[in-house]
Amino acid sequence: MIVDAQERRVLNGHTTLKTRTNKERLETVLHAIETRMHDVVDSDVDVLRDASRHIIGAGGKRIRPRLLVLAYMATGGSDADVTVDPAAAVELVHTASVVHDDINDHGILRRGRPSVNKLWGRTFALLAGDFLFTKVYELMAPFGDMNVVLSEATVALVEGETMQAAAVKDSNFTREVYTEIIARKTAALFRSAAEIGARMADAATAQIEALRGFGFNIGLAFQIVDDILDIVGDEASLGKTAHLDVQQGRGFAVAHGEGGDVMDSIKRRMLEGDTLEAARVQARMLVEHAVAMLDVLPDSDAKNELIALAYSTIERTA
Ligand code: IPE
Ligand code: IPE
Ligand code: MG
Ligand code: MG
Repeated sequence: MIVDAQERRVLNGHTTLKTRTNKERLETVLHAIETRMHDVVDSDVDVLRDASRHIIGAGGKRIRPRLLVLAYMATGGSDADVTVDPAAAVELVHTASVVHDDINDHGILRRGRPSVNKLWGRTFALLAGDFLFTKVYELMAPFGDMNVVLSEATVALVEGETMQAAAVKDSNFTREVYTEIIARKTAALFRSAAEIGARMADAATAQIEALRGFGFNIGLAFQIVDDILDIVGDEASLGKTAHLDVQQGRGFAVAHGEGGDVMDSIKRRMLEGDTLEAARVQARMLVEHAVAMLDVLPDSDAKNELIALAYSTIERTA
């Protein structure tokens, strides 16, 4: 009898098999998502292809596609290959948004590489971002209603970025405005990623709602931690230009600074440490809230991975 690698693990112990094969399946799908993104941005217009592959090939945490695939697996989906194109689409929405974000924020380092605007200039960065957004149509064309779910997030993302620019311009960066901004610019895409995964698995309504809430809350936590890291992190480990938020008048610290000169207030409060601590406490509460929402799901390796993913948003240092 020929015993292949997977069967050998059955013989070696059932638990090891289950954990390994689920992880392996996830890694295989994530790898397929990489290939799909690389391939879909092919173009005979060299700048679009090269700039796209520059930013995609730089990697990144890939937390959104991972969330989508795990949501699918945790709600009973059995053929994770079907998630490859929607997950690639979600990651391309995110990738396009960071290409455009670096134009707006004057970011010159992204994912450990010079940003697209740094290498190709603003015009081509704008167009490369447009190209990535339009490739989402191609990837999502066969997925009917999932397009509505993803477009909800994409619209929110653009609204959030616009509200943020307006709040900075009008010096109106209050806590309430901050929360609304991060809900739209970041959390909405996490929510849609989780929802698409659950819907593709034909999950029950209560499970879809739970995954939506889970995605949204970890998305909020993720952005709050991103704002903390923008202050306390260093560029080498973050792989992107740091300290832009405070310099440019936005982020958690700005929203929680009190009156007077914004920069002075932020520096004072940073030294006192209370703003950063408040941010950490808030992010942790959001993650705990998110994890509690998963109670409606049956126990599984994928559910455990979702919980680990949730905590990774607040435990990360890069
Ligand atoms: C950066 O997102 C933009 C935010 C929403 C904070 P990520 O931190 O997920 O970026 P990559 O994909 O890992 O580079
Ligand atoms: C996140 O904004 C980008 C989007 C959600 C579009 P930031 O400006 O806070 O993100 P980084 O720190 O540059 O990655
Ligand atoms: Mg920004
Ligand atoms: Mg930025």
